[in-house]
This record gives sequence, structure tokens and C-alpha cells, in this order.
Amino acid sequence: MNAAIDPAPISSAPDQDAPLILALPKGRILKALGPVLERTGLFRDGSAIGEGTRSLRFPTLDPQVDVVRVRSFDVATFVAHGGAQIGVCGADVLMEFDYPDIYAPLDLGIGGCRISIARPVGTGAHDNQAASSHLRVATKYPTITRRHFAAKGVNAEIVHLHGAMELAPTLDMASVIVDLVDTGSTLKANGLHETDVIAHVTSRLIVNRVALKTRPDAIRALIERFRDALQENVA
Ligand code: PRP
Repeated sequence: MNAAIDPAPISSAPDQDAPLILALPKGRILKALGPVLERTGLFRDGSAIGEGTRSLRFPTLDPQVDVVRVRSFDVATFVAHGGAQIGVCGADVLMEFDYPDIYAPLDLGIGGCRISIARPVGTGAHDNQAASSHLRVATKYPTITRRHFAAKGVNAEIVHLHGAMELAPTLDMASVIVDLVDTGSTLKANGLHETDVIAHVTSRLIVNRVALKTRPDAIRALIERFRDALQENVA
């Protein structure tokens, strides 16, 4: 190849002056996270981040920290791939993806819920296909679901949905679902009931392991701000 037209090598050295990117999830976690964000000093109104705009990246009160607002499931992917150095996501997402590049130093103790198995009202854990070695399950958690049922000797055939899986049993797409349950009102409204809890979930502060090595001071300082904000909450 002609060296004269080689593209310039891409530098892998991090820009130490660039703002850290903090990835935050939309929806219920962001609502619960609002007061914590206010106590970190990053936002005046933490629950209203990005309201009234289609922009996805925002400055914070600290010029060294910008926020990107993404889907809950994508927070881990943004952090694992280094697009964001730090983020907040549910333990459910960490369990599902199990990214080796992510370190989760802090349980924020917010967004508490559980990953559960739910079935149509009137059926129990041992009805239908559940007692056999094969079960069709609608879920947005294929890895967690497969692992859970495999440990019980059941081959879970996954119907992979990204939402509204509560519809799947009544539409004969699956016998059961595996989904997040908080108040239980979505299950109730759709004729389902919770029969087994697979895992309890809270939100975690997560960090890209490489970024922690290349920008340790900035990232550790931000982790400490979150830690202090949580302690203020308890005090
Ligand atoms: C979750 C989950 C259920 C619902 C459960 O969805 O998938 O649908 O919340 O909450 P409840 O027990 O309080 O009724 P979420 O609202 O987070 O939206 P999603 O479908 O985008 O995941």
C-alpha cells in the first residue's frame, strides 16, 4: 500500500480534558435517580434531564461531565464499548449482558424490583408445560431465562420481545413470561400472576474498566460524588 495515502493512525490515548460521559437510562430509573443526581451537584432538577428536547447529550453543572440519555438496556452497551465511561443501569441489564469490560462499584439502592416468572391466573408453577422439560417463554431477558430454566433441567424456548410480553400467554405465543415486576399492576392488568422470583434488582453505578485505568482520578472522583450523595440520603 502507498504510505502516502495511508490514513492517519487513530490515537487510542484518551483526551484527559474531554468531559466524562455519564450514560443515564430513560424512564423509571431516571425518576428515582433524580434526587441523587441533584445531591451530586450535577443537576438542579435531576428528574427533568432532557425534557422538552430531542437532543440526547446534555451538559451538566460540572463542565467535566456530560450526560447521554439512552435506553436502560443500552446503558451497559454504551459503557462496555467506551462511548460512555460511566453509567447507571439495573442489575438485570448487567446480568443479561455480563460484559467483562464493566465494573459495578456502587449499588445505588434505587429502582428496586425483581425479575420474575409470571403465568396466567389460574395456572401454577407445575401446570401446563412447566412440569415437562420444554417450555416456551416470552421475555426481553433471553440469557437470564435460558440460564434459569437450564439449571432446573428445562429447555426454555425463547420468544424474544422488547416490551409488552404480558400479552404473549393470552395470544398463545408462550406459556409463561420472564419480566421485571415492581408493583405487580402490569401483571394484574393482563391476567397474569407472579409465581417465582429469579433475582432481586436495584440500580448500579457502572464504569468502563479501561477508562478507570486511563482516567482514574476523574472517574474515582465521580464515583465518590455518587457515594457521598447516597450517604446524604441516608443521613
Ligand atoms: C417494566 C416491565 C413491566 C412493568 C412492571 O416495564 O417490563 O412491563 O415495568 O411494572 P409494575 O410491576 O409496576 O407494573 P417498563 O415500564 O420499565 O417499560 P419497558 O416495557 O420499556 O421495559
